[in-house]
Amino acid sequence: MALERTLSIIKPDAVAKNVIGEIYTRFEKNGLKVVASKMKQLSKQEAEGFYAVHRERPFFGALVNFMISGPVMIQVLEGEGAVAKNRELMGATNPKEAAPGTIRADFADSIDANAVHGSDSLENAAIEIAYFFPATDVHAR
Ligand code: PPS
Repeated sequence: MALERTLSIIKPDAVAKNVIGEIYTRFEKNGLKVVASKMKQLSKQEAEGFYAVHRERPFFGALVNFMISGPVMIQVLEGEGAVAKNRELMGATNPKEAAPGTIRADFADSIDANAVHGSDSLENAAIEIAYFFPATDVHAR
């Protein structure tokens, strides 16, 4: 499997629950290294830009409002097959459907407040990483 990088966001609900460390531990115990990170209060414009691909979907406004409701923790994860590995650790979008032991099963309350975001492809990972981090802020380890 190839060494990959993916973008992960710990969303406002999980930041408010004070489980950043528990989520980072899951990444680290499963072969993913944090190679960039920052806590950030997203502006409406930043959130709309990040989710632009979903702008025609009925939940777009709710998603943007949720993502600006408090600070988020944004990180770049590096590891073998990092995109799929992170999605596996996250679990299904709807926490009611998420496999036991996944981040969403353990920390998410609803499909609106679902604890984490993870890039869904290597191509999107590169776009999403560049959206939040200049190349000089991502550190090979
Ligand atoms: S995914 O993760 O992209 O495969 O899931 P998808 O179903 O395409 O959803 C895209 C993002 O929209 C969020 N979402 C919602 N937000 C609010 N309300 C509803 N009903 C809803 N359904 C989906 C979902 O959490 C995805 O956000 P990210 O941050 O990409 O995980």
